[in-house]
Amino acid sequence: MSRLDTKYWVVDKKDEKLTTNPQIQEAALWINKNEVVAFPTETVYGLGANALSDEAIAKIYEAKGRPSDNPLIVHIAKESQLQSLVKSIPESAEKLMAAFWPGPLTIIFESNSTVSSKVTAGLSTVAIRMPDHPVALALIEAAGVPVAAPSANLSGKPSPTNAEHVLHDLQGRIAGIVDGGPTGVGVESTVIDCTSTPAIILRPGGITREEIEAVIGPVAVDKALTEKGQAPKSPGMKYTHYAPKAPLVIVLGSNTFMQNLIDKERQSGKKVGVLATEESKQRYKADVIVACGYREDLKTVARDLYDSLRAFDKEMVDIIFSEGFPRTGLGEAIMNRLEKAAGGHIIKE
Ligand code: TXA
Ligand code: MG
Repeated sequence: MSRLDTKYWVVDKKDEKLTTNPQIQEAALWINKNEVVAFPTETVYGLGANALSDEAIAKIYEAKGRPSDNPLIVHIAKESQLQSLVKSIPESAEKLMAAFWPGPLTIIFESNSTVSSKVTAGLSTVAIRMPDHPVALALIEAAGVPVAAPSANLSGKPSPTNAEHVLHDLQGRIAGIVDGGPTGVGVESTVIDCTSTPAIILRPGGITREEIEAVIGPVAVDKALTEKGQAPKSPGMKYTHYAPKAPLVIVLGSNTFMQNLIDKERQSGKKVGVLATEESKQRYKADVIVACGYREDLKTVARDLYDSLRAFDKEMVDIIFSEGFPRTGLGEAIMNRLEKAAGGHIIKE
């Protein structure tokens, strides 16, 4: 692809008149010209384009190097935009929207085919979310169209949680970047399919299963998330993802067990990285130790996860060992992302 002059707009997310902010206006203009613009959401940076235009959506897949059978999430700024994109709104979705929108929950609806068929990768359903970020909402509103956006990383890399990550992956490949500071949640939205009863969680994310069940009662979880060899219902879940350059191994066991693994690799001349937490970082001896938040507050682990994975690329380590996390609450999303990044490589004591 030809190299683009990527524009860079810095906006203050606390600005009270964001919709009329000249930087947002300019970024929106590029979306209206069917170009691709990266922007912050509360989860990760998104790579946005006009969801109604085949031409615009083709540019997202090209910029990311994303397989075209992996559908995109459509971002809206107002609930009134939803009616024009879907066949119907199930009761479970009504309740979830009331509880969690704007926020890190993506809901799958029956599509009425208004969005480009490239957005849905030919499926009859469409994924929609309303992000909880003033810059995202202002941009979508200023553009006046629903905005399809995957995470703004090169396909396979960790998702971007600040504008620098986006620049690193996509400078020269997209029309512009709106820098609204670091994102907060750090892992992507939860994807839930409300076209079946009970609703099915296809991807764990920023809203936990426990939070969802408190609103709509028991939900199902896509078997591919818990059993090996099952084809995922969410096409994106079948790819290796979020991966740093060096191989990553999740270690479930004691500090001593982990230290033995580290020592073996170092003895064979390898530069070894460890992904630990603030509580545990002092317990290891390795070449590079990255503390990813506080284990006792999984929100901080989710927030820092992708930045920590990207840090190992800069340090040029040969192998990375990561601690594991409990699979409840936000831990489900954290372990899901770590497992993808590790290509499923887990060592148990
Ligand atoms: O937090 C997020 O969700 C971020 C920000 C930018 O909003 N976006 C994001 O997009 O994570 P992406 O493209 O990286 O992941 C979208 C996921 C993929 O796993 C995809 O397969 C799934 O949503 N998906 C999209 N449309 C779908 C559909 N109609 N049915 C099933 N899964 C769908
Ligand atoms: Mg992604």
